[in-house]
Amino acid sequence: MKKTQTTLVWLFQALILTSLSCSSGPRAVIVEPKVILTPKPGPSPRISGAKVFGVRPGSPFLFTIPATGDKPMKYEVVNLPSGLTCDENTGQISGTIEKPGEYLTTFRVRNNIGNAERSFRIVCGETLALTPHMGWNSWYVWENHVTDKIIRSAADAMVSSGMKDHGYMYINIDDCWSVKPSSKDSTLLGKPRDKNGMINSNKRFPDMKALTDYIHSKGLKAGIYTSPGPFTCAGHVAAYKFEEKDIARYVDWGYDFLKYDWCSYSNVARKDTLPDLQKPYKLISGILRKQKRDIVLNLCQYGMGDVWKWGKEVGGNSWRTAGDLGGSFEGIGTALFRDGFDVYSRDSLQVYGGPGAWNDPDYLLLGYLSNWKGETVPTPLTPNEQYTQVSLWCLVAAPLIFSGDITRLDEFTLGLLTNDEIIEVDQDPLGKPGYRVSKQKDSEVWMKPLEDGSIAVGLFNRGEAVSKITAFWSDLHISGKQSIRDSWRQNDLGIFENSYSAKVQRHGVVMIRIRPVTK
Ligand code: GLA
Repeated sequence: MKKTQTTLVWLFQALILTSLSCSSGPRAVIVEPKVILTPKPGPSPRISGAKVFGVRPGSPFLFTIPATGDKPMKYEVVNLPSGLTCDENTGQISGTIEKPGEYLTTFRVRNNIGNAERSFRIVCGETLALTPHMGWNSWYVWENHVTDKIIRSAADAMVSSGMKDHGYMYINIDDCWSVKPSSKDSTLLGKPRDKNGMINSNKRFPDMKALTDYIHSKGLKAGIYTSPGPFTCAGHVAAYKFEEKDIARYVDWGYDFLKYDWCSYSNVARKDTLPDLQKPYKLISGILRKQKRDIVLNLCQYGMGDVWKWGKEVGGNSWRTAGDLGGSFEGIGTALFRDGFDVYSRDSLQVYGGPGAWNDPDYLLLGYLSNWKGETVPTPLTPNEQYTQVSLWCLVAAPLIFSGDITRLDEFTLGLLTNDEIIEVDQDPLGKPGYRVSKQKDSEVWMKPLEDGSIAVGLFNRGEAVSKITAFWSDLHISGKQSIRDSWRQNDLGIFENSYSAKVQRHGVVMIRIRPVTK
C-alpha cells in the first residue's frame, strides 16, 4: 500500500467509533476500514502451498499443484515416482506409490505469459499431514443445516474463488450428516444403519460416494466427522461400538480426513485418567492404520488432559487445543486472544507440534458465519483482528481451515486467506511451530524459524490503542544486519540492525520475514 493510503487509514482509524462500554459490559463496536494488504496474483504462473507431502505405500495418491496465473496453464512434474501421473491440464497428480522412500520432484507450470518451477518432496512412509491441513469446514457457517448441495457448492467455490490455487485442499463436512433419531425433521430421520450395521447418511446426503467423487474430480479431498460416543454433539448417530464398520464405510465412501469429536463419549466412558482420555483415539487410529486409504485424523476433545503432550502418540495428525473458538458468536474476539495467544504461550505448545502432528486452535472465523440465531452474518472480528487470527495461526503452524461461507467471499476475506507469503510461513517444510519471545504489557512478539534459515515474526498489539512494537534481535537469537520484508504487503522494508519497530493497530499485527544479509 502507498504511504499516502497508509496515512489515510491511520487517520480513519483514529476516528474509530466506539459505543463506549465499561469492561464488564458488551464489547465496544469498532468500525475499521477493511484494508486489503494482499497483492492480487499476477498473470504469470506462481506455485504456492505445501512443498512436501506424505503418503503411505499403496494408498491412493491425490495432490493438485497449487498455482496462480492466467488460465489455461500446463502442469508438469519432473522425476515423478513410478506409479504416479500428472494431468497436464489440471495439475492433479494421482496413482499409487508402492515403494517407501523420499522422492524429490520439480513442479513446472506454464501459461502464455511465463513459467514457474519449484521443488516438491513426496515422502512415501507412515506419516501423513507433513504440513498443516488447509481447507474448509462446514460447522461455523452451516452448523446443523448442512447438505450435499452445500458441500458441492463449497467445492465449486474453492476452485472458482482461487483458494485451491493457493494450496487449500480439504472440503470437510462437520456434524449433522448422519441420522438424528431424536429429531422431528423428516430429512434427518431414517435407519441409522443398514442390516449389516453399516452407518447411513441422512436424507440431506443421498449419495456419499457420489459426493466424494465430485470433490475428488475437482482435485480436492473430502473430510467427514463423527464421535467415539454413541451420538455426536448435535445428537446424530456416531461410532460407539461400530468403530471398525464406520471406518470401513468412510473408506468405501472415499473420505480422506476424519474429525473425531469426544462429545457423548463422556456418557459411556470415564475421563478421569490419561488412559481413559487416550483410549478412543488409540482405537480409531489403529483402525485407520489398517486401511488401504490415507485418512488424516483430527482429534477434537477441547484440550483435555493436555492433549498436545500425547496427541501424536495416539495417532492424531492434529488436536484441538481448546474449546470452540466460536462457541459464542459475540465472544469470538475474546476467545481469539485467550485460546490463541494465552493457551499457546502458557503451555509452550510449540514443543509438541511438528510434521505429521499439529496443534489445532480451531477454524478461521472470517467472512460470513452463523450467529447461532438462524442468520449468516459478517464475522464479529474487526479487520485488524482478522489479520491477527491468520497471522497467529500461520506462526504457530496451525491448520488453516476456513469455516465461513466460501460461496460468499469478498475481496478483503479472500485477501486474508490467500496471501502466499503468509501461507508459506504456515506451510514451511521444517514444520516448527512458532512461539512468543517477548511480552511487554499488551505488545507481544512471536517468531517461527523457517527451513531456509530465515525467521517469520509477528508484532502483535493486544491493546486498545495504536502502539509502537519492537522486535529485538537479542530476543530472536540473531545479530548483525538483517533484511526485513513485510509479509502481508509482500514488499521489502530495508536493512536493519539490532531491532525493528513498527506502529501496530489496535488488536492488529505486523508480520515480517527476517533474513540475514549476505555479502
Ligand atoms: C463440537 C466441536 C465443534 C463442532 C461441533 C459439532 O462443539 O468442538 O468443532 O464439531 O461439536 O456439533
